[in-house]
Amino acid sequence: AAQYTVFGNPIAHSKSPQIHTLFAAQQGATIWYERILVENSPQHFQAAVRQFFAQGGLGANVTVPFKQYAFDLADELSQRAQAAGAVNTLILLPENRIRGDNTDGVGLVHDIQHNLTFSLQNKKVLIIGAGGATRGVILPIAEQNPASITVANRTHSKAIELAKQFGIQAAEFADLQQYDIIINATSSGLQGDVPDVPARVFAGCQLAYDMLYAAQPTPFMQFAQQNGAAQTADGLGMLVCQAAYAFELWRDFVPETASVIAQMRENMN
Ligand code: ATR
Repeated sequence: AAQYTVFGNPIAHSKSPQIHTLFAAQQGATIWYERILVENSPQHFQAAVRQFFAQGGLGANVTVPFKQYAFDLADELSQRAQAAGAVNTLILLPENRIRGDNTDGVGLVHDIQHNLTFSLQNKKVLIIGAGGATRGVILPIAEQNPASITVANRTHSKAIELAKQFGIQAAEFADLQQYDIIINATSSGLQGDVPDVPARVFAGCQLAYDMLYAAQPTPFMQFAQQNGAAQTADGLGMLVCQAAYAFELWRDFVPETASVIAQMRENMN
């Protein structure tokens, strides 16, 4: 069977094998998709990737903390990977060359527009956070022609830097007003925390989207809903949709995602 993998640290709880196995079933195919735990250094990562492809691997996903190393390792890069400065999908090319792509942003956009059915066009979009997760999604969101994109971060200087690079707005938490779609790209939820934005930002919010996901509504989803967000969503859909784009790059087949999201959700409960 065709071999794929996901590299990460930690990696034991990755849902990618299950997701890609469900995609393969839609295609009527059997694939082998494993998890590989790699020691956190560029050298270990590079060696693990080269070994995987030398032994017949066809494609790999890359997760925390290796997306930057994967960017450095790739022999060629997609435009969206270049903009993101990070790679989450590696594709084997002829002559053992490796192409790096980034499907996180298009996965998020697909989840918002097709699964949750919120258009981004002409919407005021706020992204909270200014780390790798934010960098990875700005370009695909901008391609949907929103009215504006504002980035806000606890450490304001990082938001200013991203805003300059991508030609979007930066605002301090305390200065935030109201937005149609608010995306939490901070890792605050990992500590059970929420970003310290004013409650009023959610007053007219149509969709508050947390890139993190959990069996229960995340702290950010609860905070947003309590303060007036009309709808909330967690990042399980983004996870499945970024995987779907990777699967398409590897296998030239577009998986259906809604049923896979539902299946994964059921498995979490
Ligand atoms: P990632 O690749 O997930 O984006 P990262 O680059 O480490 O990870 O960035 C983490 C982001 O979450 C940053 O924007 C960080 O804010 P700072 O730049 O001020 O550190 C944000 N973050 C983490 N914990 C947070 C918290 N408790 N409140 C607000 N923002 C938080």
